[in-house]
Amino acid sequence: MTKIIFDCDPGIDDGVALAVALTDPALKLELITTVAGNVTVDKTSKNALKLVEFFNKEVPVAAGAKKPLIKQYEDASHIHGQSGMDGYDFPEPQRTVVAKDAVVAMHELLQASPEPLTILATGAYTNLALLLAQYPEDKAKIKQVILMGGTLSRGNMSSVAEFNVYSDPQAAEIVFKSGLDLVMVGLDVTLKGRITEASHQAIAKCGPAGQMLDGIISADGDKTEAGTAIHDLQTVFYLQHPEAFTTKDYWVDVVTEGPALGATVADVRAAYHQETNVKVCLDIDTDSFNEWFVNKVKDNM
Ligand code: BDR
Ligand code: CA
Repeated sequence: MTKIIFDCDPGIDDGVALAVALTDPALKLELITTVAGNVTVDKTSKNALKLVEFFNKEVPVAAGAKKPLIKQYEDASHIHGQSGMDGYDFPEPQRTVVAKDAVVAMHELLQASPEPLTILATGAYTNLALLLAQYPEDKAKIKQVILMGGTLSRGNMSSVAEFNVYSDPQAAEIVFKSGLDLVMVGLDVTLKGRITEASHQAIAKCGPAGQMLDGIISADGDKTEAGTAIHDLQTVFYLQHPEAFTTKDYWVDVVTEGPALGATVADVRAAYHQETNVKVCLDIDTDSFNEWFVNKVKDNM
């Protein structure tokens, strides 16, 4: 069983990814930490609690950063709705966030764990950057970080910047330079590997969980004729099926000021760096991704 920490800003696509992570018997979701991103941290925490409660799980949720390290906070409620997870009428959650802040909760869990843990990070990387600054010893307890974010092709916040990196570029820079084992699941693959209408219709038939997922996916504003971009779900898919991705190791820098703010720039010709810092996903087997997702809903929810 793979033990994971899920650091996120639900968010419709974070929510779908959490649904899989909460219910897959092959995964042990130890902790959910939240960050301000798609909506405020109060709302992202509440959305995480709604899902924990929907699936009746006992996974702690710890609320994290209310704003980026330096930059001003900007939300994405135009994509995810006012609640951050519009499209399904969840009851008011009875569970509450734990008393500890996300960074302390992550630190205590990492230090208590006999083996290093994998972190999926699908919001701004503010919590992760704070963890590395406050508890550098925790690096040794992190096996891998699978990040949704960044792009080597086009952006979704500007022509060059992706939302999670753009949201807190200083935090992204700290994480990218950390020396941790990093995988970048960016827009290069998440805009390509869309969940098709056929997959969407198949999951909509899968009982109460299918209805809930149908509701929130239908409300997602990130849609084209090819399907819906459920970006964050690909971090869970990568965790279980790295072979479904074409990857390349690069040195990637984050632009922290100016008109290209939030851009992720790979040294593709190895002109400036001999070493690499990130495994970048460049292509995805979209059919396998769709099949995997539909089966996760059918088999586990
Ligand atoms: C990322 O931005 C957010 O809006 C989504 O949840 C995803 O993590 C895509 O750029
Ligand atoms: Ca997200």
